[in-house]
Amino acid sequence: MLIIFTAIVIGGIGRSLKRSSSQVQHRLGNMVSVIEEALGGLRIIKGFNAAGYQRGKFAAENNVYRRTLTRLLWRKDLSSPLSEFLGIAVVTVLLWFGSRQVFSGQMDAGAFFSFLFAFYNVIDPAKSFSKAFYDIQKGIAALERVEMILDAPVSIREKPNAVPLPSFERQIEYRHVSFAYRKDDGPVLKDINLTIPKGKLIAVVGPSGAGKSTLADLLPRFFDVDEGGIFIDGLDVRDIRLHDVRAQMGIVTQEAILFNDTIFNNIVFGLENISPEAVEQAARIANAHEFIMATEHGYHTNIGDRGSKLSGGQRQRLTIARAILKNPPILILDEATSSLDSESEKLVQEALIHLMKDRTSIVIAHRLSTIQHAHEILVMKEGRIIQRGAHAELMEQPGEYQKLVELQAF
Ligand SMILES: Nc1ncnc2c1ncn2[C@@H]1O[C@H](COP(=O)(O)OP(=O)(O)O)[C@@H](O)[C@H]1O
Ligand SMILES: [Mg+2]
Repeated sequence: MLIIFTAIVIGGIGRSLKRSSSQVQHRLGNMVSVIEEALGGLRIIKGFNAAGYQRGKFAAENNVYRRTLTRLLWRKDLSSPLSEFLGIAVVTVLLWFGSRQVFSGQMDAGAFFSFLFAFYNVIDPAKSFSKAFYDIQKGIAALERVEMILDAPVSIREKPNAVPLPSFERQIEYRHVSFAYRKDDGPVLKDINLTIPKGKLIAVVGPSGAGKSTLADLLPRFFDVDEGGIFIDGLDVRDIRLHDVRAQMGIVTQEAILFNDTIFNNIVFGLENISPEAVEQAARIANAHEFIMATEHGYHTNIGDRGSKLSGGQRQRLTIARAILKNPPILILDEATSSLDSESEKLVQEALIHLMKDRTSIVIAHRLSTIQHAHEILVMKEGRIIQRGAHAELMEQPGEYQKLVELQAF
């Protein structure tokens, strides 16, 4: 009876511990994502004077975490004296009950003492058993959380019968492509038609929010189109193996994406069997070799969290070196130089020209002077292509492109 009661109480505490432990994990997860987000958007946070807001967000999250954790520890601390107390209570009752039996002659004193001794010896193992029980509960709570994250739905899936794409031979085509991030917000791209022959440079210009980045992001399938299709050599990208689609492309974005690792590892980034000579060669083409050699340990210098020990132009040249090393036939440059000062922009622009040589490129540019030689220039506005043609053609017709060029002449 008593033992069953004890078991129920301890079981209840165990369950409640499991619940709060899973809450604590959840809170910690939230807090880490606030930190992540803050680091990822540091420039934006500063630019919008949002440091106070971000700090407040972290403090609030931190507070909730602290409270939840305190509650968990409180319960945990309570549970140990509680089980101790219950153990002693059981012994007391047994002692009282047994001694009455012995004195009234109903039980042999020797038997009673051996029983008591045996019981006493069982307490310690029982305690470690209940501790193990808590730990298991805690483990299960953590596991459930991990499973929840792993089971989160992935929106981009490869078809089971996806075909390989060994190489890119002819052209990329966008056919009547429409796309919306959220159905209620309306389409961001509307009926886009576009052909990019192999080896040509296509430039996309237009005001911010026009859908330029979205247009480019659809090609490596960061998102899938809602209507129409994108075709590489006549194959719908949704029918091709995801790995093969992305293996054809190198992407350089405005925000250089780097990791807290050595320069060498950031350039190699996921490629295998790369010799140091190949890395150095890529860095030279990207105008990066010299500044790399000037760092403390050369290619083995750690660049800090997201490359924080480097300047913007240096970071960008590392991502270009990475793209050069990957040597993809298709290149996507999304405002790759727009966050740089004019000095490093020149170096990066040179590096980009090396990179684009003999490749098929989609270049989103804020500086029109850099794309005048493009095979075709697309002017986008509010999700549509409103003008298209070579630079000379566009300059002859009155319209958005002329206005943009005039604007930049200042
Ligand atoms: N991940 C996203 N989720 C929801 N809306 C987005 C997302 N990315 C961009 N948008 C919206 O889509 C539109 C086009 O954005 P984008 O393609 O980034 O334009 P651009 O690169 O021309 O500045 C904008 O209105 C923007 O707010
Ligand atoms: Mg953009």
